Amino acid sequence: MRVPLLDLGEQYRALAAPIRAEIDAVLASQRFILGPQVEAFEKAICDYCHAPHAIGVSSGTDALLAVLMALEIGRGDAVITTAYTFFATAGCIARVGARPVFVDIDPQTYNISPAAIQRYIAENCRSDGDGGLKNKSGEKIRAIVPVHLFGLSCEMDAIHQISERCQLDVIEDAAQAIGAEYHFNGRTAKAGVMGEAGYFSFYPSKNLGAAGDAGMIVCRDEGLAARLRVCRQHGMEPRYYHKFIGGNFRLDEMQAAILKVKLPHLESWSAARRRAADFYREEFTRRELTNLIALPAEPYRVRGLTNHHIYHQYVIRTQKRDELREYLAKREIETAIYYPLGLHEQKCFSYLGYKKGDLPETERAARETLALPIYPEISREAQRYVAEMIAEFFK
Ligand SMILES: Cc1ncc(COP(=O)(O)O)c(C=O)c1O
Repeated sequence: MRVPLLDLGEQYRALAAPIRAEIDAVLASQRFILGPQVEAFEKAICDYCHAPHAIGVSSGTDALLAVLMALEIGRGDAVITTAYTFFATAGCIARVGARPVFVDIDPQTYNISPAAIQRYIAENCRSDGDGGLKNKSGEKIRAIVPVHLFGLSCEMDAIHQISERCQLDVIEDAAQAIGAEYHFNGRTAKAGVMGEAGYFSFYPSKNLGAAGDAGMIVCRDEGLAARLRVCRQHGMEPRYYHKFIGGNFRLDEMQAAILKVKLPHLESWSAARRRAADFYREEFTRRELTNLIALPAEPYRVRGLTNHHIYHQYVIRTQKRDELREYLAKREIETAIYYPLGLHEQKCFSYLGYKKGDLPETERAARETLALPIYPEISREAQRYVAEMIAEFFK
């Protein structure tokens, strides 16, 4: 039995008629960039996330780039983040000229560890005399970029406490976590709206996927939102007058129209992913595999949140990761490794001076984690087969 990591076909077939109708309408309008579809989708995202402002952009990567540029983070600044994430997170920090500072992850959740952020600050930073922080190289620490990896929120209460105390902006990388919830400051909040700004990616394989590249920034402050709208059009306002340097970060009408059709289904897709995760857990428990593979942590389930996890990925860990992956591949079960090498060890970041052993939990996760097939429509038969083959491997 062939089990793909992700199969988008069924979802498309169910929505093909309304999606095609929207595409036809955009073609008939001949308005392709930043028009009524983008505005309507931005409004829908505001309603969905309870975000005061949403700004449609060309991708998740460009979302972070735009936020960093709008906040004037650049040369002489440093931004704290995780090395266990997709490249874009740190790539954007470096592209604006700032230094990415990598701290280690929590080994249960794979998300940035607030204790590690705290440790970095205690061991490497001093007050800049103005309520903020400077590191040993004299760079000003400007922001923290927590990444809600695999669809699970970071510990935002603890991160918020640090950011408040040290005057740091929090920019949430919610590229993988649209809809994920966290009990923040005593209230249920969705990923992306707990910091100064947050962003989503609508890359086709994301839980809410476009038919190409697309992204969205959400933020609370009206001034920042206005600046971001100008930033996504080369810092231009009015036409052909440029206040500051921005980029072409525009979202197009076709993508917005498609995403608008899909968004009302997101909650049911997230629930279906969670049911699939529950089924994996039952199967692995029944087959007595839980002492051989570590299942995804669900730290917020006890708090009664609906979207305590949205399972963008279902990631297990085992010291025999590579052998297991090969065994499953031979049985036509597709898996993936997110991510095989921490960003602190990537060649392009060698100038930052990190070495192997600097982030032990990141490095261990890079060696041991394996993403199993998960998507809303995955059949129980397929999941049972995956569990059966994993059990057979460990026999
Ligand atoms: C954690 C994370 N950050 C940022 C991005 C960048 O998003 P995009 O591919 O839309 O540019 C991704 C997407 O893959 C991601 O997974």
